[in-house]
Amino acid sequence: MNLKKITGYEAAKEVMDGQIIGLGTGSTTHYFIEKLGMRLKEEELDIMGIPTSYQSFFLAKDWNIPVTTLEEHDVDIAVDGADEVDPGLNLIKGGGAAHTLEKIVDYSADRFIVIVDDSKMVKTLGAFPVPVEVIPAASRIVSHILEDMGAATSIRMAERKDGPVITDNGNFVIDAEFGVLNDPEDLEIELNSIPGVVENGIFSGVVDQVFVGTPDGIEKISK
Ligand code: A5P
Repeated sequence: MNLKKITGYEAAKEVMDGQIIGLGTGSTTHYFIEKLGMRLKEEELDIMGIPTSYQSFFLAKDWNIPVTTLEEHDVDIAVDGADEVDPGLNLIKGGGAAHTLEKIVDYSADRFIVIVDDSKMVKTLGAFPVPVEVIPAASRIVSHILEDMGAATSIRMAERKDGPVITDNGNFVIDAEFGVLNDPEDLEIELNSIPGVVENGIFSGVVDQVFVGTPDGIEKISK
């Protein structure tokens, strides 16, 4: 069973006619956007998407989902994936380096639903490194500060391009391994106070509901 697919498809049922939808990024939201495109066609829905990355923009275009921007519309419902989810519904995101725009869109939404397969549910955050988007000129300095805070750091390297990953915003990503995150809310704020940091991948206290795909079906966890 494709757990990402059943979860993404289930979340697409939550969208109502007339809504503005935050379109998350990743392999799970791929299925959400796909099903939304199918619904739009079959039910002639009057909806618009606000993409959180070039990936979700292109996918919206493939499915003829009209797109708009945060300059023009507020977000009624955002649906996005995650790399880790803890029992307090705090997240680590940014495995695809899209967390900055994801955070802007997701935090602004009236309702924020996270879609994951059950492998993403953890007791405590931190096995997955915290992605930190940085202005390139600040990358060495920020790495040193993160190391002083106790993290092992690496600038994320691209796979089919020489050199580092360049985000949709033209920046680098430092992956910071802190180990177990005892206080994700404080760390989220602290990381963003470092000069040169654009945004980090900790999302604390903002999720309304998590849809978890399991072999037995979808589990829906509300805050
Ligand atoms: C993008 O940068 C990430 O925040 C993704 O939303 C997250 O990595 C989840 O992606 P998958 O659904 O592909 O696991």
